[in-house]
Amino acid sequence: TRIGVGHAHAKVILLGEHAVVYGAPAIGLPLPGLAVRATARHTEPGDSSTRIRFTTTGSEYALPANSGLAALVALFEEPGAGIAVRVLSDIPLGRGLGSSAACARATVGALDRLLDRPVVEPEVYSLVQTAERVAHGNPSGIDAATTGSPRPLMFSDGTSEALSVGMRGVFVVADSGNSGATRTAVDLVAERFRRNPILRTRFVQRIHALAHAARPVLTAGRADELGPILNENHSLLSELGLSTPKLDLLVRVAVDAGCVGAKLTGGGLGGCVLALAADPEHARRAAARLRTAGATTTWTVSAESFR
Ligand code: MEV
Repeated sequence: TRIGVGHAHAKVILLGEHAVVYGAPAIGLPLPGLAVRATARHTEPGDSSTRIRFTTTGSEYALPANSGLAALVALFEEPGAGIAVRVLSDIPLGRGLGSSAACARATVGALDRLLDRPVVEPEVYSLVQTAERVAHGNPSGIDAATTGSPRPLMFSDGTSEALSVGMRGVFVVADSGNSGATRTAVDLVAERFRRNPILRTRFVQRIHALAHAARPVLTAGRADELGPILNENHSLLSELGLSTPKLDLLVRVAVDAGCVGAKLTGGGLGGCVLALAADPEHARRAAARLRTAGATTTWTVSAESFR
């Protein structure tokens, strides 16, 4: 039997989450160490049922029919032929690490190869977005794009540009251990902006400025120049009500441990913190302190690895 295999990885947002939903640019970083692998095959003749098995960090279950992944696989079904999909993911769920988009992207790759179709980028992106709309309501697309990119992306209005990275430094991602529902967070922001449109204009303008300041630092600057930009982004997200005492604590611990800056990353209301250390020694120290302070897991990725 023919088997199609597809891959994708986790992501974190360096800057611009939520604002990106309103047209501001955001920068996404790939986390290649947290991977998803999907396989797809046709079921036995006479068995036209479609099955999706999903395993993440050890627990396996069949997905509910209303999941984004189920909606995605349905697009590939042919009359009388069932498809069996297995998705194996290292990415913890609901932590703002792009789990849903990465699983969808790996699944699209597996199905495309099973059906012997060329895997072409704009089409893969829009299929991943189909699944993301079921999962999140109004996704900007930054997760759909970054989970398939080996390089950091400057993303805005559905368009992404790969950035070259000349800056040195080590990104530290710390899991608060609490899941934050992206959809709830996006709805919360929408409600605040509906009541106060000026807040929206100010937030989006500020993120525009921060993204354009961050870009040259990432391509040719020093980590300590990025620190204040990350800190300000955290304050802006916090003012929107997206932080939690635990996320604020982890941000403080990272900075006290010598990181140049830190922020919540992704939707907020739980999930992860992203910190930037100037060198591997500071990154190790910060990761250890973050775990002592209650982070359930930490991951590091060096800026050099994006070259
Ligand atoms: C989620 O990773 C980032 C958000 O900006 C939502 C989105 O862009 O769709 C919170």
